[in-house]
Amino acid sequence: MTPARRTSADVRIDVLSIFPDYLAPLDLSLVGRARRDGLLRLEVHDLRDWATDRHRTVDDTPVGGGAGMVMRADVWGAALDAVLATDGPTPSPGEPPRPILLVPTPAGAPLTQSRAQDLADELGAGTRLVIACGRYEGIDSRVAEHYAAAGLARVQEYSIGDYVLGGGEVAALVLVEAVARLLPGVVGNPESLVEESHGSAGLLEGPVYTRPLDWRGLIVPEVLRSGHHGRIARWRRDRGLERTAARRPDLLDRLDPGSLDRADKATLASCGWVDGGEGRLTRFEVRDAVPDDAAALAALAGATFPLACPPGVPVADVAAFVAAHLSPERWAGYLADPVGYVVVVAEAAARRPGLLGYVLVVLPSTADAEPVAADVAAAFAQRPAAELSKCYVVPGLQGTGLAGALLEAAHDRIAARTVEGHALAAVWLGTNRGNRRAQRFYRRHGYTAVGRRTFRVGDAPQEDLLMVRRMSPSGGGLVDAG
Ligand code: ADE
Repeated sequence: MTPARRTSADVRIDVLSIFPDYLAPLDLSLVGRARRDGLLRLEVHDLRDWATDRHRTVDDTPVGGGAGMVMRADVWGAALDAVLATDGPTPSPGEPPRPILLVPTPAGAPLTQSRAQDLADELGAGTRLVIACGRYEGIDSRVAEHYAAAGLARVQEYSIGDYVLGGGEVAALVLVEAVARLLPGVVGNPESLVEESHGSAGLLEGPVYTRPLDWRGLIVPEVLRSGHHGRIARWRRDRGLERTAARRPDLLDRLDPGSLDRADKATLASCGWVDGGEGRLTRFEVRDAVPDDAAALAALAGATFPLACPPGVPVADVAAFVAAHLSPERWAGYLADPVGYVVVVAEAAARRPGLLGYVLVVLPSTADAEPVAADVAAAFAQRPAAELSKCYVVPGLQGTGLAGALLEAAHDRIAARTVEGHALAAVWLGTNRGNRRAQRFYRRHGYTAVGRRTFRVGDAPQEDLLMVRRMSPSGGGLVDAG
């Protein structure tokens, strides 16, 4: 049976303040309309109505000394008793729901979207909310203690942010608006609640646009005008992920990596976050390697290179290759020659020690230098051409987008390089013919297959697919035969 929709008599919020006029905005806009439409009953009370002296005093000096004034428990007690005794929502069968006494204070628990949703659910189930706005140094602490201990209310102290306001009224406005718009029927199109910041996805929303499409030369992104729903959804999601990474990394700390698809992971990796296992995202930094990284790079390269060798290559040959090309001494040599090599590393920002991945690019020594191997040189015409020699990440981080982030960082570095005054025209690589996964990865990053080459680890010749990525069309180059 569908539960009967509650009327405003059941959905009730009371606000107590010494400045009731401060809450006048609750007559306006969404909340005002909800009240008029009978979706919400909201009563604002003047605390001074319960003061007993001629001056309607509500505060006194702090016991024990100190600056400022504290609001009196007796005045608050009288006010809350009276408000709680007035007709509340019709109790549901069984236990009548206990009211929630909300006390705004900078010392409270942060008010979040999920707290607002809980409160909206409570209201919908017939729970009354009473907001007690303190001023000065706050309300005598015995008030909260008493209503909680006597079972008269569930007391929740909340804060709307890490700053101090003059009193709780603004925080009451914030809470009422955040909660009321979640009540059924208050927001015209409930769809608009789905994709917003702090929604169930736990992310911030990306930028939004409307007409005119060209305003002061600023043009709404093409994808949003494409009418292609899939691409639009992807674009919005990516911008939300990027914005969250930039502005609220704490939200990514709490995000379940299981809720992310491959495209999400690639976008997050470009912002420095990967699924590091353990059900959490890990932050990493991509940076240029420095001479001190030689030992760590040798360890990482020595551990990852063998994993990418095709089966059948003798272990001794793999070890000899690593000793010859990826030893600490060789790395020290690469790192000492920033003109000849680009080395980019990924490093965890915390927790996981050591390097997570690396890219090694070999730059040509002259603008018209040919790749050393004849089969490579013959396969494509662009010069100067750099060699993407290595791109590896630790095994647990494959498929997380980390390798893509490293590769793109390396592309950025080499796009900014010149050789004898010429921008690089292309970057090429050889990858084992049987390694389809690697080939798909490089294709996604702009490489196309141009031929084969033979590559030796020990004596065994390996057949590699040769792939080339042209640098941006505006980039220079000596020969560009296409
Ligand atoms: N009262 C004063 N500052 C406050 C804050 N940041 N949040 C809630 N209530 C307050």
